[in-house]
Amino acid sequence: MNILVTGGCGFMGSHFIRHILATYPEYSIFNLDALTYCGNPENVKDIQDQSRYQFIKGDITNQDVVNALVSRGIDVIVNYAAETHVDRSILDPKSFVMTDVIGTHTLLEAAKKYAVKKYIQISTDEVFGAITVGSFTEESPFQPNSPYAASKASGDLLCRAYNKTYGVPVIATHSVNCYGPYQYPEKFISLFITNLLEEKKVPLYGDGAQVREWLYVTDHARAIDHIIHHGTVGERYGIGSGEERSNRDVVDNMLVLLEKNEEMVQYVTDRPGHDRRYSIDSSKLRILGWTPEYSFDEGMRKTVEWYRGHPEWWRPLKNASFNEYYKKQYQQ
Ligand code: DAU
Repeated sequence: MNILVTGGCGFMGSHFIRHILATYPEYSIFNLDALTYCGNPENVKDIQDQSRYQFIKGDITNQDVVNALVSRGIDVIVNYAAETHVDRSILDPKSFVMTDVIGTHTLLEAAKKYAVKKYIQISTDEVFGAITVGSFTEESPFQPNSPYAASKASGDLLCRAYNKTYGVPVIATHSVNCYGPYQYPEKFISLFITNLLEEKKVPLYGDGAQVREWLYVTDHARAIDHIIHHGTVGERYGIGSGEERSNRDVVDNMLVLLEKNEEMVQYVTDRPGHDRRYSIDSSKLRILGWTPEYSFDEGMRKTVEWYRGHPEWWRPLKNASFNEYYKKQYQQ
């Protein structure tokens, strides 16, 4: 099987590629990545010399580039390429529309033209908005609140339309928050762990009582593998762990793991439009046979150890960190 992975030098895409190459000796991977700020060749360094792996630098909004690649006999497209950071989308929504909407459209056009066998859309539970009690299901209406979530929802709607109108074999996936090694240090868990390792304070937005559901990144890779092989075309699948934590609880967990105290926590101005809670019902995927391997506690231990052991990976990214810029804009 030939799989085109877009955004394969990013955090989640790189874990998926590593998983597929290790699990299926007969599969080949084509990795199309524009290498924007969070696309990092270091994330796939350990597999870059494998004969079944090929990297192509290019943007998913470029139809010629995408067509040239898909026409080479791609069976499955897995679209990991995306602008994903909510705080960035508040300051620069256009780049999100370009990659998450126009880029998705470009890939769908190629999927249609070259009749790929499956197109897997990697999306988010944020398209459903926030939920106070209970969990979203695949049938919940889209109610995105941030420019990021709206861009992903728009791309997902195009996926639905290309399936209904042209019969493109789309499967859409909506995942909860992922964390683990190689996550660019601007997201909550990667930023906070690396701040604490640098003896810097951690900026907790608002009252810290927001709730997220956390999934270790290799479990997401396994979920996508499972959906490619067992999912039904035209369906959506929620990918969740059931491991809900308030942000404050996650910080407390990190303080213990990194042996730091309360003085390192700085409550700062809240994110505009901050969603209070996300939660997704993943029973549809679990009935297909997928289940996460890692508990939150195990995943966090592994994650902290990885960042502790790989300062050469995150320090250069940290120095150019967007977070300082964001703080200047919104945090007074
Ligand atoms: O739910 C899935 C989504 O999870 C993904 O689709 C997004 O790409 C991903 O960024 C994530 O969105 P969140 O906004 O939930 O993730 P983030 O890591 O930015 O923030 C997690 C929580 O931590 C959120 O309530 C905001 C809070 N936070 C975040 C940062 C960066 C802080 O309190 N301080 C911070 O500095």
